[in-house]
Amino acid sequence: MKKLLNTLKLMKIMILNGPNLNFLGIREKNIYGQDNYQDVCRHIMDRLDNRDIEINIFQSNIEGEMINILQMAYMEKYDGIVINPGAYTHTSIALYDAIKSINIPTVEVHLSNIHQREEFRHKSYTAPACIGQICGFGKEGYILAVEGLIVRLSEQNFGK
Ligand code: DQA
Repeated sequence: MKKLLNTLKLMKIMILNGPNLNFLGIREKNIYGQDNYQDVCRHIMDRLDNRDIEINIFQSNIEGEMINILQMAYMEKYDGIVINPGAYTHTSIALYDAIKSINIPTVEVHLSNIHQREEFRHKSYTAPACIGQICGFGKEGYILAVEGLIVRLSEQNFGK
């Protein structure tokens, strides 16, 4: 029955990456790894290919554009969001407000372990608007976040 319902309506999950993440493979490789942004996106899509979900990946260097994309997630009825807000994590009340506004379960991801790094990275403005945070697992963090969302959405009787 669940399988049937899932074929009627797939879980729709957005991955939203913030500033400078398009520079993966160029920026601070000792922290963020060798893979470029396309490699990371391909890895995410390949690893989640066998899951019954629709997944769309977005990236913006601009705070307001990220808010527009989050509002689009609301309009287009996304079921869950994985967000890596980049440095806006540590500054943006506007992104916190946007995540709260749309009321879609959201998981915050960071490639690096922000708690092991400079003190200004220890505070996340956006994490309190999220259902959870994953950091320090590199690109695998995105997979873990999506798997967590699938569990949470299934608990909430997604599709029933
Ligand atoms: C990051 C951590 C942030 O502190 C930093 O500004 C980034 C990347 C991460 O994925 O580890 O741009 O979000």
